[in-house]
Amino acid sequence: MADKLIIFDTTLRDGEQSPGASMNKDEKLRIARQLERLKVDVIEAGFAASSNGDFEAVQCIASHIKDSTVCSLSRANDRDIARAAEALKGANSARIHTFIATSALHMEKKLRMTPDQVYEQAKQAVRFARNLVADVEFSPEDGYRSDVDFLCRILEAVIHEGATTINVPDTVGYAIPELYGNFIKTLRERIPNSDKAIWSVHCHNDLGMAVANSLAGVKIGGARQVECTINGLGERAGNCSLEEIVMAVKTRRDYFGLDLGIDTKHILAASRMVSQTTGFVVQPNKAVVGANAFAHASGIHQDGVLKARDTYEIMRAEDVGWTANKIVLGKLSGRNAFKQRLQELGVEMESEGDINTAFAKFKELADRKTEIFDEDILALVSDESITHEHEKYGFVSLSQHSETGERPQASIVFTVDGKEVKGSSDGNGPVDASLKAIETHVQSGAEMVLYSVNAISGSTESQGEVTVRLQNSGRVVNGIGADPDIVVASAKAYLSALNKLHSKADRVAAQG
Ligand code: KIV
Ligand code: ZN
Repeated sequence: MADKLIIFDTTLRDGEQSPGASMNKDEKLRIARQLERLKVDVIEAGFAASSNGDFEAVQCIASHIKDSTVCSLSRANDRDIARAAEALKGANSARIHTFIATSALHMEKKLRMTPDQVYEQAKQAVRFARNLVADVEFSPEDGYRSDVDFLCRILEAVIHEGATTINVPDTVGYAIPELYGNFIKTLRERIPNSDKAIWSVHCHNDLGMAVANSLAGVKIGGARQVECTINGLGERAGNCSLEEIVMAVKTRRDYFGLDLGIDTKHILAASRMVSQTTGFVVQPNKAVVGANAFAHASGIHQDGVLKARDTYEIMRAEDVGWTANKIVLGKLSGRNAFKQRLQELGVEMESEGDINTAFAKFKELADRKTEIFDEDILALVSDESITHEHEKYGFVSLSQHSETGERPQASIVFTVDGKEVKGSSDGNGPVDASLKAIETHVQSGAEMVLYSVNAISGSTESQGEVTVRLQNSGRVVNGIGADPDIVVASAKAYLSALNKLHSKADRVAAQG
């Protein structure tokens, strides 16, 4: 039997560290459920000690997810570790992932600690964690830029204390595939008890090599766990992308000779969910999940694929969840058909009340748009007003007027703590006027750092999905809104971002 490659997904922790990608508890739970459907082995649900919000998210995911191991990150100190263990109490299978920086640069400039102090703290942290859970991962942060002798010393010691997984991060994305693969190999060869732990790779994408480096860590170094994120989400240029690493190992099983537990049919839905939730759009030419990943535009290619699919295709689009855009439901579809489609799409709603609200919204949409695609349904259920009845701001209605040569005007009605208010303004365009109309009441003082519109299902009949990213007092949040009218979608997205700014959460940065 071939070895198994463990897929450790950190979309909800390292991915979420990307400015603007922060998610609330419900969004995280929805993504965690999709990761479970994907049969991800380990879900890093967050960094429990970083904020109350993160603690609650880890706790909630730990109590709902049954098939994947649920993990919390934690700095190498007793308080963080105890907090992680507490958040993970309800999990079927729990892991604590503790880390401390080991490169000379990080120890001296960031931690202001000597190597001996770091060594002692790492040992103590792993010992403490092992008393709380059986599954403990240790990461030497900035491991790839650390002195190899020191790394051997500290890793041997933490394995001795009971670390079950050793993860070697290329924290700043500096590695080159062959060098990184050999680095892992050297560590495994030199550390006498290295066979007592599973070795893991964790690569950042600053030089665009996170997937290649991770694969080299597996092939050359013998690592059997890869840390990755959906769509490669993550700080700066992101992390190793789950869809790429999984499909590389699966498609080139002849070369890697490794088994995976992943159910790849759910990859595309996971990619869309993460993109819709964070507002990080997937580039069309992105491998595996980009809109063009399986599109053959050139006549020669199309001809070849029609004659024999494998002339130009190395993977089957349906294996990662691509199906032709199909009309799934329409105006006459009933509640049962809608509920069943939600199940097929892997969307679980908390209550019958939520399903009723979503169904009412679906009917409203079906009145305005004859063809309802899966993408429309996914956008509809990610609408916060379904599950967040008690949000501060809620959209009610909007009217706007624009005419060539005249300054556009907009009036909007929205709720503030359940009470309706009306705002009016002019603006450079109808969207600008609508958002300014909201601000006449809210006066948030927030700065808009991103505004983007995307057609959900490709044509002008499609719903527009708008992402608004706002920044205020050092916090960056995303709001998403969808509607066939892009001005309405923009107003919804803006209100959603204001709701997130309103629910304040202070957190400690993982690499801070
Ligand atoms: O990149 C990194 O070093 C990390 C650690 C906290 C594992 O994300
Ligand atoms: Zn990282």
